[in-house]
Amino acid sequence: MYDALRSILFHADAEAAHELAMWQLQRIQGIPPLLDAIRAHCRPRARVSRTVWGLRFANPLGLAAGFDKNATAIEALEALGFGFIEVGTVTLRPQPGNPPPRIFRFPRQKALVNRLGFNNDGAERVAERLRLRVERRGTSVEPPPPVFVNVGKNRDVDAAAAAEAYAACYRIVGPWADGTVVNVSSPNTPNLRDLQRPWQLREILDALGAARARFPAGPFRPILVKIAPDLELRQIEAIASVCVELADGIVATNTTLDHGSIPPDEDAPGGLSGAPLFERSTAVLQELRGLVGPRYPLVGVGGIVDSGSARAKLAAGADLIQTYTGFVYGGPLFVRRIVEELAA
Ligand code: FNR
Repeated sequence: MYDALRSILFHADAEAAHELAMWQLQRIQGIPPLLDAIRAHCRPRARVSRTVWGLRFANPLGLAAGFDKNATAIEALEALGFGFIEVGTVTLRPQPGNPPPRIFRFPRQKALVNRLGFNNDGAERVAERLRLRVERRGTSVEPPPPVFVNVGKNRDVDAAAAAEAYAACYRIVGPWADGTVVNVSSPNTPNLRDLQRPWQLREILDALGAARARFPAGPFRPILVKIAPDLELRQIEAIASVCVELADGIVATNTTLDHGSIPPDEDAPGGLSGAPLFERSTAVLQELRGLVGPRYPLVGVGGIVDSGSARAKLAAGADLIQTYTGFVYGGPLFVRRIVEELAA
């Protein structure tokens, strides 16, 4: 059925199709019997649970950042079986992002290119949605999957003010999520990736750590750093050593600027995701695992399009994995299929 729906969706502009999918997910949330039916159909039967940071994950496959930027469809996405959901990127102030078109499909390569540029509703509105979910969650029977929030900085904030911008956003959204991911790796905000430099990363993580220390008492809320795939070994080493000291985990990786897999006459500028990213993002993950030792939590993301790539990502050292592009191409039964095949 998704094949038929996808062939219709894929005639529309990629961002319009995404908006339509989000609209459908939001409507489904308003109709509890439909949500229950979808949950019954799409949730993986296999239980491959694990505990990381004291949080319980029913399965290791999460939804990567950027799909539900504004935290408007968490419950419907939960019903599709994800083991955890990362919302965002959220910035302190709302911003429109880059002019469209800004998402491009490459079905032959199972890839996407995007240059959205952190279009989002801003920290206050997203925090309010997360807060309402925490309230509703209090009444649910089963513990729902952990929700992480990914934070960034507004485009007009310069490097000198970046740490405070991340911290200000974190103070608003952080208390309402199970964990936070610091995005210093999107290629679509000028100079954002420069914040991966060790002294700048240190400044940001110090500011977030200080903010967290002032949160109301509650469960431990891990802080993770999301890194780019386009890094040299010495840069990965420097990032790993700062993270081991000041963060609770690393998400590897964001999209790549290497478009070698796309014919130049079809290409578009932006970050590339999906199958062609698998090799590079997995190599970075494997490097990290060697650097941080066996116990430090790593989340592997980039090019998971089937159970083989999911298994390979776990084998390369990921405690948890995430997908975005594979889910777009795979449809609503994608999570169930992968998790059940992983368990088999
Ligand atoms: C993304 N990604 C992303 N990452 C992030 O940290 N913040 C964001 O806002 C976004 N936005 C976003 C939009 C679109 C359209 C895509 C395709 C991707 C990156 C995403 O979370 C993930 O790291 C990469 O896409 C690699 O995983 P996949 O897609 O190969 O599974």
